[in-house]
Amino acid sequence: MKLLRFPRRSFVVLWVLSIQLVLCRMGVFAGDGTKACKLPFQSESESKALNNLEPLANQNFTVDVTVNTSSYRYVFQVCGNAGGVPGAGVIQINLKAQEKPTVIGRYDSTKAIGGSDWVMLIYSNGDPYDNHCNKEPRKAIIMISCDKNTEAGKLTVVLEDNKKQNDCFYLFEMDSSAVCPVVQSRLSAGSIILIIGFCLVAIYLIGGFLYQRLIVGAKGMEQFPNYAFWVEVGNLTADGCDFVCRSRNREEAPAYRGVTSEALEEEPEERDDHLLPM
Ligand SMILES: *[C@@H]1O[C@H](CO)[C@@H](O)[C@H](O)[C@H]1NC(C)=O
Ligand SMILES: *[C@@H]1O[C@H](CO)[C@@H](O)[C@H](O)[C@H]1NC(C)=O
Repeated sequence: MKLLRFPRRSFVVLWVLSIQLVLCRMGVFAGDGTKACKLPFQSESESKALNNLEPLANQNFTVDVTVNTSSYRYVFQVCGNAGGVPGAGVIQINLKAQEKPTVIGRYDSTKAIGGSDWVMLIYSNGDPYDNHCNKEPRKAIIMISCDKNTEAGKLTVVLEDNKKQNDCFYLFEMDSSAVCPVVQSRLSAGSIILIIGFCLVAIYLIGGFLYQRLIVGAKGMEQFPNYAFWVEVGNLTADGCDFVCRSRNREEAPAYRGVTSEALEEEPEERDDHLLPM
C-alpha cells in the first residue's frame, strides 16, 4: 500500500503551507518598522497613517540630483536611520565633497497626515540652514501617493523651498501601493483556508478514485481512496466517541443493573398481590 503513505503526508504539508501563506498575508508576522517614529502631537489618525507605511520600513530610498555643478544624493527611510545616520529620516550627501551628510529631517519629530490614497510624512528638526531661512532647522516633507502597481516607486525631489525667511522645506514624492485604499471585497482569511481545504479534498478524492479504479482496478467501495485507512479512522473515531460520550462506565453498569433488576422484579409481584384479591 504505497498509496496510503504518499497522499496523507503531502496533504499535511500542503495544509501547513497554505495556513502559513494566509497568516503572512494577514500581516501576523509583520515587524514594528514604524514604531521608531515619534509623533510629538500623537493622534489616532496620525498613528493610522503611519501604520500604512509599515511595508516601506527598513529600506533606504535614494535619489541623485544635479544642480548646476553640484550633485547631491538624498536618502530617505520610513522611521529608520537613513543611510545609516542615527536618528535621521532624510539625509543629503554632497557627492562632490567629502563632508558628513546633512540631516534634512529627524524621525523623532514626525508628523503623519493621511488621506484616502496618500500619506504625507513630515520630518522636522534637521540640521540648521547655513545662510537661508533665518538658520532654522531643516524640514523634509515626503508625499507618498497610491500606485497599485508598485510596492515602492522611485523617490523624487520636487522642490527645495528655501528662498524665504521661515518655514522652509524640502519636498519629496514617492508612489507606493502601501497607501492605497483597502478593497473591501477581498476574501477573508477563513474563507481562503476553507476554499483551499475543499480543493485539496476534492483533488484527493477524484485523484484517488481514478487511481484505484484505473490503475489498481478496484471495484465497489474499494474504489474509494485509501479505503482501508478511512475505515480504520471511522472505527477509531467511533471508539473514541463511545469512550467520551458515554456517561456511565460499562464495568459499573452490570452491577447497577443487577440492583435495579432485583428491585424491579419484586415490585410487580407486590403489585400483583394487591391486585389478585380484587
Ligand atoms: C545655477 O547657476 C546660476 C548661475 O551661476 C545661478 O544663477 C543659479 O542660482 C544656480 N542655481 C542654483 C539652484 O544654485
Ligand atoms: C541603508 O544604508 C546604510 C548606508 O549605506 C546601510 O548601512 C544600511 O544598512 C542600509 N539599511 C538598509 C535597511 O538597507
